[in-house]
Amino acid sequence: MKNTTTPSRPCTETATTAALEVQALYNIVNLIGSAVHLDTALSSVLKVLHDTLRMERATLALLDESGRHLTIRASYGLSVEEEQRGVYGLKEGIYGQVFTTASPFVVPDVHSEPLFLNRTGARPKISKTTISFIGVPVLLSGVPVGVLSVDRLFGADISFEEDVRFLTVLATLIAQFLSLNRAIRQDREQLVQENLSLKEKLHGRYHRHQIIGQSKTMQEVFWSIERVAPSSATVLLLGESGTGKELVARAVHDASPRKNDAFIKVNCAALPENFLESELFGHEKGAFTGAVVARIGRFEQADRGTIFLDEIGELPLLLQAKLLRVLQEQQFERLGGSRTMTVDVRIIAATNVSLERAVAIGTFRNDLFYRLNVVPINLPPLRNRREDIPLLLDHFLRSSNKRNEKNMRMSREFLDFLTDYQWPGNVRELQNLIERMVILANSEVLRVEDLPEYLLSPASGRIPPAMETVLPTSVAAVHAPAMSGRKSLRDLEREQVESALVRNGWVQSRAARELGLTQRQMGYRMKKYDLHRPEY
Ligand SMILES: Nc1ncnc2c1ncn2[C@@H]1O[C@H](COP(=O)(O)OP(=O)(O)OP(=O)(O)O)[C@@H](O)[C@H]1O
Ligand SMILES: [Mg+2]
Repeated sequence: MKNTTTPSRPCTETATTAALEVQALYNIVNLIGSAVHLDTALSSVLKVLHDTLRMERATLALLDESGRHLTIRASYGLSVEEEQRGVYGLKEGIYGQVFTTASPFVVPDVHSEPLFLNRTGARPKISKTTISFIGVPVLLSGVPVGVLSVDRLFGADISFEEDVRFLTVLATLIAQFLSLNRAIRQDREQLVQENLSLKEKLHGRYHRHQIIGQSKTMQEVFWSIERVAPSSATVLLLGESGTGKELVARAVHDASPRKNDAFIKVNCAALPENFLESELFGHEKGAFTGAVVARIGRFEQADRGTIFLDEIGELPLLLQAKLLRVLQEQQFERLGGSRTMTVDVRIIAATNVSLERAVAIGTFRNDLFYRLNVVPINLPPLRNRREDIPLLLDHFLRSSNKRNEKNMRMSREFLDFLTDYQWPGNVRELQNLIERMVILANSEVLRVEDLPEYLLSPASGRIPPAMETVLPTSVAAVHAPAMSGRKSLRDLEREQVESALVRNGWVQSRAARELGLTQRQMGYRMKKYDLHRPEY
């Protein structure tokens, strides 16, 4: 310390100063509760110093994260710019001196001290008053982590020794603040980590194999996939259109030891009988007119992998017999051939019609049904697992936003409305709706009033709300569109056809099936009502 020989104070003065110091300490100790907000707490401590003890300026410089500089972390009496200029090397100037020696340092007159850098520029170069500087180290477990300093106007009554003693006590308290804050930060980081890992686990539970669902029934689906995937057991996927049967079929394949071999998909409803036979089992050269070369079928392509037979309920009876043999013996002959082919294929079949009913009316073989029904997995319609709807909306909104470089949000009423909606086209309808709305939207928020009319019509069983709340922050008053009045039969039919098309992503065959129409009848109605797939 440069100057310790100071005139002692008169008795009454010392008593008053001591009382003020106690008052200051009391005020500072009361600030400990706010240690979680370190910068505010430190600034308040320095303000107490000024208010109670009349110290001119006070600064606290702390070691920065690089460990190579002292930077002003809190101050009283410095502007933001002055604070920002206060960056010191560890051996630089008076701060450096206090820091490296870990002992107090007093400058009775800063203007005559060569070590004094005045980097912040806070002290006038030429001044009539004499400014004294007192700096003490801040020690954490005996190791310097910063410097606490004050400026005082020089006066004959000043006892530097007293000030140093008091500031040292204060620096100890500040060190307590720092250590408390460090502990709080560590705890918080740990909590954040735990939170992240819990979220990750939840995400894992509700989002597996690209399939989303938190409902009990979807949890059962996840469980079935994991249980069945390692074996080669035949799987039968049951569920309405758009419930995710193909998604689950792929998930079973991807989670199975066959994952690096082929996953072959055949839609049994897409081809007439003889084409389908050749498609599935292949043909030899000359098997039929036009069979100029031999061709391997999908079963041979799927050897060692998985074949996914979609819409199995549509498989013609003749081919049902051939499939039964593959299931029993893993054997078949190509169309027009006599050679027996042996394959190692896992069969996953899917249907959105009741096979039991098909068996009852004689369009599906009983024995084949039992062979296929080894491990049935039921995919429930979306309306029976409404708790999955917000999760799916959120998922598809995120992916549509990403794909279209947008940042759309949903209003609370939009979410509630769609959670209550019937979703006849299930997840496919939901996915198509969100993609279409994100593309067409001209504001940042998806609202009930922006929904396509088929969803708002009384037939959907929903009445749109009059007010909308934007999630998550603002509230918007939006008037719902006027409900459509009485409609002609023609209008109603047009609406039905259009909504079935929208629900089915404008795939005519699917929409036709949903309405019980043939593809030709569907084509006719699209023409009649001038319906076209919208160009986004
Ligand atoms: N649980 C889900 N999580 C995420 N996406 C899903 C889910 N279910 C379905 N999808 C998505 O919905 C769409 C329709 O699913 P998928 O094609 O598997 O239905 P499907 O049951 O095979 O319908 P169809 O009987 O009409 O062929 C796909 O884009 C699929 O990725
Ligand atoms: Mg499908």
